[in-house]
This record gives sequence, C-alpha cells and structure tokens, in this order.
Amino acid sequence: MIYEQGIQDTINRQHMKAVRIHSFGGPEVLKFEDAPKPELNPDEVLIKVYASGVNPIDWKIRSGMGKEKFPGSFPLTLGWDVAGVIEAVGSAVKNFRKGEAVYSRPDPTKNGSYAEYVAVKADIVERKPESLDFAHAAAVPLAGLTAWQGLFDHGKLQAGQKVLIHAASGGVGSFAVQFASWKGAHIIGTTSEKNIAFVKSLGADEVIDYKNEKFEERLQNLDLVFDTLGGEIQKRSFRVLKNGGRLITTVRPEPDEVSNAKNILVEGFMALSVPEDLEQIAGLIDQGKIKPVVSRIMPLDEAAEAQKLSEQGHVKGKIVLQVLKESSAIPQ
Ligand SMILES: NC(=O)c1ccc[n+]([C@@H]2O[C@H](COP(=O)([O-])OP(=O)(O)OC[C@H]3O[C@@H](n4cnc5c(N)ncnc54)[C@H](OP(=O)(O)O)[C@@H]3O)[C@@H](O)[C@H]2O)c1
Repeated sequence: MIYEQGIQDTINRQHMKAVRIHSFGGPEVLKFEDAPKPELNPDEVLIKVYASGVNPIDWKIRSGMGKEKFPGSFPLTLGWDVAGVIEAVGSAVKNFRKGEAVYSRPDPTKNGSYAEYVAVKADIVERKPESLDFAHAAAVPLAGLTAWQGLFDHGKLQAGQKVLIHAASGGVGSFAVQFASWKGAHIIGTTSEKNIAFVKSLGADEVIDYKNEKFEERLQNLDLVFDTLGGEIQKRSFRVLKNGGRLITTVRPEPDEVSNAKNILVEGFMALSVPEDLEQIAGLIDQGKIKPVVSRIMPLDEAAEAQKLSEQGHVKGKIVLQVLKESSAIPQ
C-alpha cells in the first residue's frame, strides 16, 4: 500500500501513519497505525519520508536485543535510514530549506523512519545523491557509513593492501567491496555460491563460498579483515591476518590468544552519522563509482515481512520500505 492519497490527507493533520512497537517481541509486535506527527525542535528538520531502509538493527531493537545501547520509550517508531523531502525546518536551522531532497541515518535512540514523517537533527542530515531515486537513496546511509568508517577510519585501508570482507553480498558488505575497490585495495569477499558473480561485479578480486571452502585455508598475511559476522568467523579470521594487522568488526570484538600473539588490533565500532561522510559517498554515487544494491522494495505496511527476511540473514544488498511513490517526489 502506497499512501498517495493518505499522505495528502495527513499533511495538514497532527497525525500520520507509522510502524511502531509498544513492547519488545517478534515481528507481530510491529503495528502499522496512526501516530502523532513528530514535533520539531529548533535544531531539527521534519522530513517527509519517501523511503526507509531496513537494517538488522531494526529487528534487534524490536526484539529487545539492543535495549542497553539504544534505550528508547514505547511506543517506538523503528527504522533508522531515511530519504525524503524537507517539510519544515526548526527555528535554529540555517543550512536547509523546505523542499530539499535529503538522506540521513537518524538517531537510533529516538523515533525512526518507518513513518510518513521523521524529525532529525539538521547536523546529521545531508543532501541526497542527485542521481538516485528515493528508494535507492534510503539504502545508503546506515550501511554506507558503516562500510566507509569501518574500512577507512578504523581499518586505515590503503591502496594495494589486502582486505577480507565478510558477508560481502549483504547491506554493509556490498558497500564495503565497492569502497575498497574504489580505494584500490585487493579484495577477497565471502558469500555463498549464488552471490559469487554478484560480489565479483562489485569489485572483489577473489570470492570465497563460505559454505564450501574454509577461507583460513586459502588466505594469509592480509592487512585487514572487515567482519560483520563475529563469533567463530571472527576467531578464524585472526589466522589470515599478518602480524600487526587489523580486524574491524561491526559486532562484538573478541580478541583471543591468536590475535594477541600476532599483535592484531581487534576493534568493534558503532557507525556515526557524519554528514561529511554522507556527502563524500553521495559524490561517489553521483560520479557513477558506487551503486547501492536494492534487492527488494516493499510497502511500509509490510515492515514485519521485511524484517522477517532481514532476520534470516541472507538479504542481497538492501531491502527498502517505500512510504511515498516517487512520482509524488518534488523534482530537484
Ligand atoms: N556497528 C554498527 O554500527 C553496525 C552498522 C551496520 C550493521 N551492523 C551489524 O552488522 C551485521 C551485518 O549487517 P548487514 O546489514 O550487512 O547484514 P545483512 O545485509 O543482513 O547480511 C546478509 C548477507 O550476509 C551473508 N552471509 C550470511 N552468513 C554468512 C557467512 N557465514 N559468511 C559470509 N556471508 C554470510 C548473506 O549471504 P548469503 O545469502 O550468500 O548467505 C547475505 O547476503 C549485523 O549484525 C548488523 O547489526 C552494525
């Protein structure tokens, strides 16, 4: 269901449609319902949401797994990836105006973007890549920022270095392979057989089918491992790094005797909403160097189905929830 009429009806009203939770639990706790339109603080912009990206953090927070890191209050609107058009600006906001097309990764401790509107601090909002429609733009911020900061800020990846990127076909991995390729690194990606050609097309030099080959039996002396899987896979990854190499992870870092003996830097990180990074990524996208991969676009009221798919752990690229049809978009 796309809210062509619904959005018009709600613009002047104080409520909107949103997907919210009133308690932690399975996909059934997601309620597509009326919610108050967000109130705007002076430092925020109100974004009319065209599309919202789906990420594992959505179902982790929904299930209560993330409640220590991301304390929120019920009812909570999920979704922390947005592309849309600025509907209103707070009194202290100087750098945006109504009608601009933007994208952002909103603050996960606050209400998110599975909704017709979301209020976001202006200092974490960036102009959307001009060459992308809203659905593809919504696929970028969270996964793109994670891949960028993981490889470059934490991983210090340089041209010519060798990097192993796990889950190279996923949301974060599909950006990481493209960024590392743009940087001029030698890339080895892991994925399953059905995605081998896809990961090569993103720029990987070598692809290892994790179901049929042990990566640690093929690889050695790498500079960097970018890990989004953790556990056993992280542990096995220490063996393929050179002495003094780096393992950067989006999940829990678990150094052990092997990583200690090899003096490997094992670091976990939480991606930050850095607008300068989003601006650089938008630039690369508009130059045709990076392409977000969207394998499925679903309507907002199918958020529960979208989360079930994400939770299975085999999404190729990204799933995006479409809130408003592109034809309704304001041309930029
Ligand atoms: N710390 C942060 O700031 C941050 C930010 C973003 C994400 N994360 C976390 O990072 C993790 C990854 O996020 P994501 O959005 O990239 O996930 P995702 O898109 O759901 O990952 C799915 C991909 O993983 C691949 N995969 C599954 N098992 C694999 C294995 N054993 N070896 C290699 N590939 C495998 C799948 O390929 P096949 O279908 O071929 O199996 C699929 O394409 C999540 O836990 C997420 O919460 C953290």
